[in-house]
Amino acid sequence: MSTFKAPKGTYDLTPPESAKYLAVREAIAAPLKNSGYGYIETPGFEDVALFSRGVGESTDIVTKEMYTLTTKGGSQLALRPEGTASVLRAALEANLHKLGNLPVKLWYSGSYYRYERPQKGRYRHFSQVGAEAIGAEDPALDAELIILADQAYRALGLRNFRILLNSLGDKECRPVYRDALQGFLRELDLDEETRRRIEINPLRVLDDKRPEVQKQLVGAPVLRDYLCDACKAYHEEVRDLLSAAGVVYEDDEKLVRGLDYYTRTTFEFVHDGLGSQSAVGGGGRYDGLSEMIGGPALPSVGWALGVDRTVLALEAEGIELELPASTSVFAVPLGEEARRVLFGVVTQLRREGVAADFAYGNRGLKGAMKSANRSGARFTIVAGERDLAEGVVQLKDMESGEQTAVPLSDVAEAVRERLA
Ligand code: HAM
Repeated sequence: MSTFKAPKGTYDLTPPESAKYLAVREAIAAPLKNSGYGYIETPGFEDVALFSRGVGESTDIVTKEMYTLTTKGGSQLALRPEGTASVLRAALEANLHKLGNLPVKLWYSGSYYRYERPQKGRYRHFSQVGAEAIGAEDPALDAELIILADQAYRALGLRNFRILLNSLGDKECRPVYRDALQGFLRELDLDEETRRRIEINPLRVLDDKRPEVQKQLVGAPVLRDYLCDACKAYHEEVRDLLSAAGVVYEDDEKLVRGLDYYTRTTFEFVHDGLGSQSAVGGGGRYDGLSEMIGGPALPSVGWALGVDRTVLALEAEGIELELPASTSVFAVPLGEEARRVLFGVVTQLRREGVAADFAYGNRGLKGAMKSANRSGARFTIVAGERDLAEGVVQLKDMESGEQTAVPLSDVAEAVRERLA
């Protein structure tokens, strides 16, 4: 061990576990790539105001959890706590919305940073795969995203997750509801901080986990009763499309989400094996965000799935992903001459697309065979002086134990034949 450790609230991904994370990212991305989403990458930090304006001045993310810094040049930056504001900023900056092809559908994968109290499933550095569909107001788009996330989780083998669905209304009906809710909340017996929250973001009070608060919330006005006809019809259509696709969801009128930009459709994927950090993913519609960051009106919808929590969910369900061995052939040379020849064979195998590795470091036959075993390679090729004199290598099938002499020039073909 060195004198340094990974910072509090972070952890390293090391082989072999790291392969699981790659597989999860790929499984989430696959249905997106298959549905017209193009890959986007944005910087790990942004102007701090992008998040305070976009995510919301009163959210925990902005008030408590952002890693902010002032550069030597005096710029106020923040490590990105989420992806939506950045992706929309980048799409606007590149004028993707002006190319006449709306919605602009984008997917991304990367690291995000929140200064949260670390616990299992909650980290200060975590990883998301996300998708944003920018510039269209169409319930089918909301449904598409939920269906694709469901498909990704199912492809991974997950079963014990639930989809919670809600509508937060729009700029017509939500203010009316907000007033009604504030009126109700102001009459309750609440602490100072919560009273402040009533004035800034009353919907978040509904999210309060404390039993003494939840008790008082019985009988609070519910948003469903305040939705305008347009929002109601939109939400009904999303629900119908999900049902028609066979995607099971639960209506959850308490689902508020921790970011302020949401309008209409909001949803969360929760996994029942994860304890308190049960949200494996979440998202929704954000019809006003573009204008909030200085852009034109661009109604949009998206989600982000947490890679760390998805891996925990796999573990909770005891799912072992079928990860193909990364090496097919492991070369073990016996002697100096064989080293040179087999190194050449390995190089050639790789050029021909066969995953191959080599026993480096002159560790002797026993050590080399150990490495071969550990590599998970299906085949080893071993060669000594006598083999080289005959122009062959010994190709050993590590599963059956069978060993055959194969001409040097035919190794790639022999391996491919046997792998097929
Ligand atoms: P979010 O709900 O804040 O939404 O995060 C999405 C997912 O990221 C969560 O469900 C969780 O799995 C994971 N996550 C969040 N914070 C942590 C953490 N501290 N440790 C581990 N995992 C975490 C968003 O970020 C929105 N940008 C989603 C979105 C996209 N909405 C519209 N488009």
